Amino acid sequence: MIKKPWAGRFKKGTHKVAESFSASIDFDKRLYKEDIEGSIAHAEMLAETGIIDKKEADKIVKGLGSIRKEIESGKFPFKEELEDIHLNIEKRLIEKIGDVGGKIHTARSRNDQVALDMRLYLRGEINEIVTLLKSLSECLTYQAEENIDAMIPLYTHLQRGQPILLSHHLLALYEMLKRDRERYLDCLDRVNVMPLGAGAGAGTTFPIDREHVAKTLDFPKITQNSIDTVSDRDFIVEFVSVSANLMNHMSRISEELVLWSTKEFDFADLGDEFTTGSSIMPQKRNPDMAELIRGKTGRVYGNLMTILTVMKGLPFSYNRDMQEDKEPMFDTVDTVKASLEVLLEMMGNIEFKHGNMKKALNDGFITATDVADYLARKGVPFRQSHEITGKIVSYAEEKGRELLNLHISEYQMFSKEFGDDLFEYITLEGSIESRKSYGGTARENVLAMIAKAKKESEGW
Ligand code: ARG
Repeated sequence: MIKKPWAGRFKKGTHKVAESFSASIDFDKRLYKEDIEGSIAHAEMLAETGIIDKKEADKIVKGLGSIRKEIESGKFPFKEELEDIHLNIEKRLIEKIGDVGGKIHTARSRNDQVALDMRLYLRGEINEIVTLLKSLSECLTYQAEENIDAMIPLYTHLQRGQPILLSHHLLALYEMLKRDRERYLDCLDRVNVMPLGAGAGAGTTFPIDREHVAKTLDFPKITQNSIDTVSDRDFIVEFVSVSANLMNHMSRISEELVLWSTKEFDFADLGDEFTTGSSIMPQKRNPDMAELIRGKTGRVYGNLMTILTVMKGLPFSYNRDMQEDKEPMFDTVDTVKASLEVLLEMMGNIEFKHGNMKKALNDGFITATDVADYLARKGVPFRQSHEITGKIVSYAEEKGRELLNLHISEYQMFSKEFGDDLFEYITLEGSIESRKSYGGTARENVLAMIAKAKKESEGW
């Protein structure tokens, strides 16, 4: 049996059942790089402050380097009896360089060590997610530019409402993702704080230099209160929450891809690479990737509920419950990154069917709002112009005609304010072009927004 680091006070070893119940090594081995990086910075600080010898620190640093190689070449003997990644590495260090390896844990506890590992890890992952968000945002502006001539209905209640540019719609997705990016960066501010030095929760008796460790590990700030430092998992709650929001956005985008690729809509072709066939119905082409992004959103919402529930009602400071923070965090990282990667590729390869989009605009009185606006511009109160237009729509419907095919004299039966220029405003192009209000769908607005978005995301 392996001797536990706390064995001094114990007469019996841990029960087998308890051992495997409490071990986290299966999943927290993912933190090996951060654990080693943190330990190296800690050892260097211990030497710098004279708490341990320079030579001892050198040995420790070398030992840790060779352990990293062992792990990366798959030769590291991970042991469940050693609970977690911290004890596995520490024990191996002692095996490799002798008792001096035990000095690495001077002025440190696993309570502040695990907080450091998680913060280092999350910092790296947030940066990767932000990079993926940049690529996806660039892909959207690229598609907006490529498809600038495509018109599509704006839907409300999933009913055709008004004509818009497809590019305007794509830029709506861009704005959504831009907020996600901002939220990740804001969350990063609170992740990127150096916790080591809190010890078990009360601080340490050794003359450590926390700023030194922060500098080595490139943290702009250190935590302020040792109790809070080992009790805090807000940064994980926040990360998963920001991710839940992003997944919600990706799910809504996916839902539209699913709709748009149906025969009923037929606005987009997702391509062979991102669809699957049916094992029974040969004609089918299923948008599985989009469906899976939509489906995986549920996992991340679940992870948010998990971490919130784990933390709820915990007394200060560290409690072992907090070991349950890791799996929801890892799963969130994996789900978000995989979904972003797939969505990015899918968005880059999508083929928009301009002709079908336009067809969807050609019936259903889609420019009725423009008729009402026309009258309102002539001084008719909007509530009246809305009612008059409603009557015109109903008249056209009865006659089986479109708004554009009615004669001006027919319009004039409903209001004397109608003039020949009406028809400039109620074509699809006329309708779109007249929506020049800031943030509206007029082509010149959209082109300006594309340029703005391109410039913006260049700096990300
Ligand atoms: N594996 C533990 C965790 O993830 C490390 C901290 C253990 N600390 C303790 N006092 N048992 O939370």
